[in-house]
Amino acid sequence: MAKAFTRRTAMGMIAATVSAGRAVRAQAPIVIKLSHVVSPAAPKGKGAERFKQLAEQYGEGRVRIEVYPSGQLFGDANELDALQRGEVQMLAPPLAKFGPAGIRAFEVFDLPYIFRDAEALRRVTRGPVGASLLGLLAAKGITGLAIWDNGFKIMSASTPLRLPADFRGLRMRIQPSKVLEAQMTALGAVPQVMAFSEVADALRTGAVDGTENPPSNMLAQRMHEVQAHATVSNHGYLGYAVIANMAFWDGLPDGVRDALGRALAEATEFTNAVAKGENEAALGAMRAAGTTEFHDMSAAERQAWLGALLPVHAEMADRIGGDVIQQVKAAAGGG
Ligand code: LMR
Repeated sequence: MAKAFTRRTAMGMIAATVSAGRAVRAQAPIVIKLSHVVSPAAPKGKGAERFKQLAEQYGEGRVRIEVYPSGQLFGDANELDALQRGEVQMLAPPLAKFGPAGIRAFEVFDLPYIFRDAEALRRVTRGPVGASLLGLLAAKGITGLAIWDNGFKIMSASTPLRLPADFRGLRMRIQPSKVLEAQMTALGAVPQVMAFSEVADALRTGAVDGTENPPSNMLAQRMHEVQAHATVSNHGYLGYAVIANMAFWDGLPDGVRDALGRALAEATEFTNAVAKGENEAALGAMRAAGTTEFHDMSAAERQAWLGALLPVHAEMADRIGGDVIQQVKAAAGGG
């Protein structure tokens, strides 16, 4: 009797443990690692945090987003590989960093002065042309989910940059984009590809003379403390492709994927809405700091920059695809 009781009790305990284990397993959230290379204070950093907050809210406990900023998990050189291997599930690299992975069409966004203003850009990134460009990532096992703005870039250096001739011989740091390389070469500078995490130090030590970035990134990395001059050129766009490992994304339960999609749509609106203000505030803060002399271009100087830089569009047509450039220009409303 005692023996039977003991066996029943033990079996009951085992059953209870198994069912508790199932419950724990059922409740364990899906973990998504989202890695990026900028400061949490930059527009992308804020967008990532907003996505985390919304995704966890809409996911109702089924998903946990771990955001790794400032390249602490993976840097420029290895984050795309890490995504393809499934070591992170989501990233938001600049569009300028997909060329080395074989997505050359994304370099269309790097063409100098291709977008007249943010509205022209928006017609591309929010429309069918943006969607079809994101679709190119599928061939690499990557799902392109959204395009997030940072904004328009300015040029900075240790010496004034009023006219194209001022760039002659300057070592200018760029992202790994052939279009950015051609842009700096067209200005007479010597382009130097370098990971974002190394730029501030390279400017400080003089390993490079200057660079380009939107004001928000320039301030977040305190580049204004080591760049005596900057020109508010707004010559090119910096945006990000928010991407996921395709096998992971497709394997998510439908309800979770829907929740993430809803969170991402709202986080995209949020990021694009705050980015412009963040850049204006960053420019204001750096002007006030007084360590960099900011130069606002005259109409004649802008014409000189356009004259030097617009030929890069034709020069890069074979690499990007002339049809892609035409589609983007048509969608932007630039003809
Ligand atoms: C860079 O200059 O590398 C930046 O685009 C980094 C970033 O992700 O904003």
